[in-house]
Amino acid sequence: MTKYGRQLGIGPTDNTSNERTPRNKLNLIPEAARTSFVPYAPRAHSINLAEADMTRIAPGRPRASGEAIKVSGKLMDEYGRPIRNALIEIWNANQHGGYTHDEDHSGLPIDQNFLGIGRTLSSSDGNYEFWTIKPGAYLARPDIGRWRPPHIHVSIIGGSSRLISQMYFPNDPHNAKDPMRILMGDSFEANIGKKYIVTDGDFDCGYNFDIIIGGKNPTFFENNIT
Ligand SMILES: [Fe+2]
Repeated sequence: MTKYGRQLGIGPTDNTSNERTPRNKLNLIPEAARTSFVPYAPRAHSINLAEADMTRIAPGRPRASGEAIKVSGKLMDEYGRPIRNALIEIWNANQHGGYTHDEDHSGLPIDQNFLGIGRTLSSSDGNYEFWTIKPGAYLARPDIGRWRPPHIHVSIIGGSSRLISQMYFPNDPHNAKDPMRILMGDSFEANIGKKYIVTDGDFDCGYNFDIIIGGKNPTFFENNIT
């Protein structure tokens, strides 16, 4: 008998997802409550542009160490139409693979100049951009020697929905055995940022990550794991 409510049938993997799965039957929230209390993207002017620059804790502060990169892309629906004014939040580890987070007990070095979280709104063309530090890989499960490849977590809030995904980096040796990558199957390729040369600003390079919501070839979202 399984201890948890869900088992992922993908062969040997860790059990962290199962541990997060509710044991009890979920109570359905009434429709009226769902539409009244769900998060909603704030108006455009309520987002500070500096919040998209994660390379500094605040404007004028020292730059975080590591490879400064730009992450940009377009948020669109299944027909390629732009999704405007969606709240996009990203978070990633520092160059050593450590998160500035109370629950990161890895002991990896913390960069005091890198908080690792940022947010912005998609533009009228559905475009978004962030500036961050390329994350390092980290040993997520020391007991079984499982690494997580460098990745950037992405959350999108638009209307009453929140979708969560991850952007990966091309040609990383840890990509192949990543549990999330295994779940993604063939759609993994779409979650790899496409490297490009950055000509504006002092950045090493950029990665393009277009996000498609809905349709036959949507971006893989963790919310869809069943
Ligand atoms: Fe992570």
